Amino acid sequence: MPSVVKINVLTVSPQMREELERRFSGRAGMVESADGFEWFELLRPQEGTDRYLVYTRWRSEEDFRRWTESQAFQRGHAQAAAEAGAQGHGQGHDGQGHGHGQGPVAGASEIWSFEVVQSAGPKPGS
Ligand code: HEM
Repeated sequence: MPSVVKINVLTVSPQMREELERRFSGRAGMVESADGFEWFELLRPQEGTDRYLVYTRWRSEEDFRRWTESQAFQRGHAQAAAEAGAQGHGQGHDGQGHGHGQGPVAGASEIWSFEVVQSAGPKPGS
């Protein structure tokens, strides 16, 4: 079964970029223990877009779905929501501890889904 890639595409205003990166630098680090988790990267836009990409790769669609319904996901996002609450941005969140969607760090978010068709890493010893 090919791995699946799930990318959370975050539209972040210039004045919130530093805050987003600060939040991720303090992230919970719970996704690393999720079943079927393979890789995570936060990609800062350099050219061609102003959107941040939260890149995650999973053994299967099912593993990703289970993570998004897990405590680890809730807790992995609770910090952002708690901080949003502390900064008086608390209104309108889904109460699930998610500072998502209309959340303060991101003006908008959408998920892109891919299947890994081909992949390559550096040649061993090269
Ligand atoms: C709906 C909009 C979303 C927003 C605004 C958002 C925002 C954030 C923020 C600010 C953090 C930093 C952690 C913190 O502040 O405590 C975070 C963590 C994270 N987000 Fe999201 N997120 C969203 C949905 C998603 C989705 C759908 C994915 C998967 C594709 C994802 C993947 C991650 C990962 C892997 C972490 C690190 C969790 C950990 O360390 O355990 N997020 N998110």
